[in-house]
Amino acid sequence: MDTQTVVILDFGSQYTQLIARRTREQNVFSVVLPCTAPLSEIQAHKPIGIILSGGPSSVYDADAPAADPRILEQGVPVLGICYGLQFIVHNLGGKVRSAPKREYGHAEVSIEHAASQLFAELPAGLQVWMSHGDEALELPAGFRRIAASANALAGIENAERRIWAVQFHPEVHHTPLGPQLIKNFLFSICGARGDWTPAHFVETTVAAIRQKVGSGHVICGLSGGVDSSVAAMLVHKAIGSQLTCIFVNNGVLRKNEFQSVQKNLRDKLGLNIVAVNASARFLEKLAGVTDPEVKRKRIGQEFIAVFEDEAHRISEQTGGVDWLVQGTLYPDVIESSSVKGPSQTIKSHHNVGGLPERMKLKLIEPLRDLFKDEVRRIGRDMGMPEELLSRQPFPGPGLAVRILGEVTPERVELLQEADEIVVSEVKAAGLYTEIWQSFAVLLPVMSVGVMGDQRTYAYTAAIRAVNSEDGMTADWAQLPYELMKRISNRIVNEVRGINRVVYDITSKPPGTIEWE
Ligand code: XMP
Repeated sequence: MDTQTVVILDFGSQYTQLIARRTREQNVFSVVLPCTAPLSEIQAHKPIGIILSGGPSSVYDADAPAADPRILEQGVPVLGICYGLQFIVHNLGGKVRSAPKREYGHAEVSIEHAASQLFAELPAGLQVWMSHGDEALELPAGFRRIAASANALAGIENAERRIWAVQFHPEVHHTPLGPQLIKNFLFSICGARGDWTPAHFVETTVAAIRQKVGSGHVICGLSGGVDSSVAAMLVHKAIGSQLTCIFVNNGVLRKNEFQSVQKNLRDKLGLNIVAVNASARFLEKLAGVTDPEVKRKRIGQEFIAVFEDEAHRISEQTGGVDWLVQGTLYPDVIESSSVKGPSQTIKSHHNVGGLPERMKLKLIEPLRDLFKDEVRRIGRDMGMPEELLSRQPFPGPGLAVRILGEVTPERVELLQEADEIVVSEVKAAGLYTEIWQSFAVLLPVMSVGVMGDQRTYAYTAAIRAVNSEDGMTADWAQLPYELMKRISNRIVNEVRGINRVVYDITSKPPGTIEWE
């Protein structure tokens, strides 16, 4: 059966991705397009409904973002949110003005016509989140008011034309009953079936990959992380032995990771994996390097070199490789399609960029429609181990960016031991999946300590634990003192070479999560 899709047009709201998530939580697939998307592109998705996001502008701004107004004439149900409401009013002949009283934050809205399908099963007084400076003054012909706050109009509809709009944000969690409103729009108004489940996704994706690849051969770089593993698993389900995964030990993986990834993916799940222990090659390239960017570049270049060698070998064995799997996620896709100013490179991220062009490989990106938590749900549906799915993010250049100063085999081992203690203690405290990341950093700072009656002179470990939604901003986590105490005791007692442990209390910004 076809996948039903809701198109969300982005007018620049910080909540647009949340709208997408809210529809998907109802098992209805959604895509985010820039508001400037041509009508033909919107129609190509055969949307069962269109949602217009909020946005920071006023419809009267000279550079106010605008969508093709014909979206309001397709007979496809439309839900405008905040700026989306003003866009509708403005375009259909009503009037919007700058509100005498701006509304930001919590508000109560009274629903005036309980009969509106949009508000079915919602109470007459609704707690909502408002954030706007403009308000609709005159409604376009055929529209009626269906909700109001103390100061302003809060909801309108023209059921005949299949257009609804609200001034508040049903997608944020400060509108506690927002999910019901979105559900009403999707199910009662758009006729959604709600069948976009993990099982449905797996089934349609596997079928699509099978058809796309035919008898071709596919390679995939595994990092040990969630995204590349789930992407590989989907392709494996589709074409089995036509997929070869490449997993490189770059010498800066965590303790036992080279083995545990192979155990999970090859032994438990049956993936065809070429595991390359290139540790020595990488560590040689890192010898004497202390500059963080140089470290990142060297690891990135070496990774591509190793990957290419292996890919060529596989190509010879299989009579040619045609495809490369990448674990690209939806937020990256949205980011690259939206119009953004140039942003400064803070850290160069390493991936297999550039490889597809050089090796003339075509891309398979089975996760490009998914958010991270959806990737985990899909992985669970395919029976992948929880240990793998709930893993915290780990940077491509691995422990190298957590060893300040030169990366040497001895230092890698010190950090692997300390990191292992942090991870196991955080897990034992039941906090591993609550926290975005928790890890140790090895500082090139030596200090004096005392153990037994012995003077020690050894390295310092910094503990970093942060809470974050997406890694873009982060707060340092307030770990329980008991946990910090256990971590510190164990590191100093069990890791010979570290005699001091400190805690990093820097948020992002101005800090970054990784130290390099
Ligand atoms: P920063 O240090 O920039 O990190 O605050 C933000 C998030 O990105 C992860 N990170 C990386 N992930 N390749 C990756 O795949 C990289 O080169 C890389 N560098 C940082 C970091 O762990 C955090 O979650």
